[in-house]
Order: sequence, then structure tokens, then C-alpha cells
Amino acid sequence: MGKLSDILIEVKDLKKYFPVKNGINKNNFIKAVDGVSFNIRRGETFGLVGESGCGKSTLGRTITRLYDATAGDIFFEENNIAKLNKKQMKQYYKKMQIIFQDPYSSLNPYMNVKELIEEPLTLHTKLSKLKRKEKIESLLEMVGLKKDDMDKFPHEFSGGQCQRIGIARAISTNPDFVLCDEPISALDVSIQAQVVNMLEDLQKEMGLTYLFVAHDLSMVRHISDRIGVMYLGSIVEVGRSNDLYKNPLHPYTKGLLSSIPIADPIKAKESNINIIKGDIPSPMNIPSGCRFHTRCPYAKPICSEVTPIEKEVENDHIVTCHLY
Ligand SMILES: Nc1ncnc2c1ncn2[C@@H]1O[C@H](COP(=O)(O)OP(=O)(O)OP(=O)(O)O)[C@@H](O)[C@H]1O
Ligand code: SF4
Ligand SMILES: [Mg+2]
Repeated sequence: MGKLSDILIEVKDLKKYFPVKNGINKNNFIKAVDGVSFNIRRGETFGLVGESGCGKSTLGRTITRLYDATAGDIFFEENNIAKLNKKQMKQYYKKMQIIFQDPYSSLNPYMNVKELIEEPLTLHTKLSKLKRKEKIESLLEMVGLKKDDMDKFPHEFSGGQCQRIGIARAISTNPDFVLCDEPISALDVSIQAQVVNMLEDLQKEMGLTYLFVAHDLSMVRHISDRIGVMYLGSIVEVGRSNDLYKNPLHPYTKGLLSSIPIADPIKAKESNINIIKGDIPSPMNIPSGCRFHTRCPYAKPICSEVTPIEKEVENDHIVTCHLY
């Protein structure tokens, strides 16, 4: 882990709205990311969790400029990259890479392993053909694949091996930052740990900073230094991994934690089961005030009227809720 005060990425009031195209909802927007502010420190793993559709992937893709932001700022090494055009972004793309959830669909099936890993090298480096080949060989070794795999195509590999190819592609340009968007969710449970261990080793070796997206807290708890909890386009709580797990503050985080299956039936009975009720509202129609008020067991009259502001309740533990 790097120096804690060293911020690599600072996001300020970031918004990403998608226009709705169908006739009934014309002139409406899906507010996938709706005013997010947080930072990612150099060398850390920042875990991002929340229910399906809350905007995790959109946030990651907007930060890495796969999507243009609707509003807000993204400071990468103190440079605001939010409004740079594609040409101006070129020097940053190689510093920010992405590992996708589905290893098969993220790899072009008509390219062999050599071509797949060579693509970013050709695009972002000035290495000669020979040097590129040497680099590809060393990358394959780093992700636990063999030199002989170079001529093979994605369909000849298992899901875990394909993800290794995706990881080799992502680290090929020596990035500073890697968005890991649910990189193990599509893999067999038996190989999830292997891939996570490899990502951790690579992080140490290369000094990488990760934004690690997952559905639930149990998956990111052990690998994350800090965790952000996202609800309906907004981050409602950020804290160090252990603090968040042992002392969750936001009612939504508490609900997420209590929905983690508990293996021990006695403990399960003793635990304060507080499953979040109701469905997640539409991101086209975000509730007024606190956007969680329609589902919150602690909601008070003020919650539907006034938007809560974030508060640092203890060192490095920030929550956005009227209870604090
Ligand atoms: N390209 C797009 N065009 C229009 N709407 C989109 C697009 N991408 C995402 N959305 C919408 O934005 C919202 C957030 O989606 P997003 O994929 O970011 O969520 P997520 O938290 O990553 O979900 P999951 O856990 O299922 O991956 C959803 O309502 C989704 O339907
Ligand atoms: S602000 Fe109110 S509705 Fe929102 S999480 Fe806190 S108590 Fe619940
Ligand atoms: Mg996603």
C-alpha cells in the first residue's frame, strides 16, 4: 500500500446521465451516476459495492473515460481529465486500464493470444516488433500462461484462463490504475481465489491502484483497503474495509451486510436480520431528499425533504445520512 495521503484519482460531483430514447419517456434521463465525490489513493484497492444497476460500472467507465461525463471533475494525478478530448486523453488511456467481468465477450474471438496482447502495446508504446514479442512472453508468464499459448484463440481456453489473458492485456501498458469490474464474478468459485491472489501479487509487483467493483461486501472485504457503498447513483458511505464491516453506519450498508449469507445457523439466528425491503427505485425517477428513504427502516419526515450531506463520523469513515 502506498502513502495514505497520496491521492491518485479525485472525483468531484461526477454525473453520468443516459438520455432515454423511447417515445413515452422522451426528454428523460437515466441518472446512472448522480453526483459522486470520492478519492482513490495511490497503491490502494478501493472496493465499490452495491446492488445491480446502482451505477458501479458506469462510474468506473466514466472515471476511465470510456464514457464522457455529463458533469463534474475527475482529477488524475491532479490533472482534470473529465473534459479532455480523445486526442488529449491518449497519454492517459495507457495509464488507466480495465479488466471486465465477462472474459469471453471482452476478448475478440478472431484474434489469437499474441494479437490480443499485442494490440494495446502497438497502440500505446513504441516497442519494436521483437521487443513486443519479448514483452508478450513475459506478460504471459506473469499471469500464469505459457509461451505456447500465444497462437491459441480465446475459445481454446477456460473462463479463468481467458481472464488471465484479459489481465495480461490490462497490465501490458504498465498502467497506474486498473478498474477491475467484477473480474471474478463470472468464474468458477474454485478459481476465483487464484485470480484474486494473482491480482494482489501484480499490485505489489507493479505498484498498481485498483478500483474493485463487486456486488457484495463479503467479496471485497479482504482485498480492499477502503470500500465505498453505492446506492442509486450515489456513494452513501466510505470507510476502511474493517471499519465498514465491523461498524457499518448507513442503514443501506447495514442492510447489505445482513444479506450476506451466514454459514453458521446459530449465528444467523442471533444476527440482527435487517434485509432491505422493497425494490430499488428507477434511476429515471430518483426519490427526493435522501434517495434511500423509500426503503429505509429509520426514515424520518426530514429524510424525504432534505438531501443529507456527507459527514466524516470517525477518521476516514464518511457517511451521508441524517442520523449522523
Ligand atoms: N450504456 C447505457 N445506456 C443507457 N443506460 C445505461 C447504460 N449503461 C448503464 N445504464 C443504466 O444505468 C444504470 C446503472 O447501470 P450500471 O451498469 O452502471 O450498474 P451496475 O451497478 O454496474 O450493475 P451490475 O451490478 O448489474 O453490473 C442502470 O439503470 C442501467 O440500466
Ligand atoms: S437519511 Fe434518513 S432515509 Fe436516508 S438513510 Fe439516513 S435515516 Fe434512512
Ligand atoms: Mg456492472
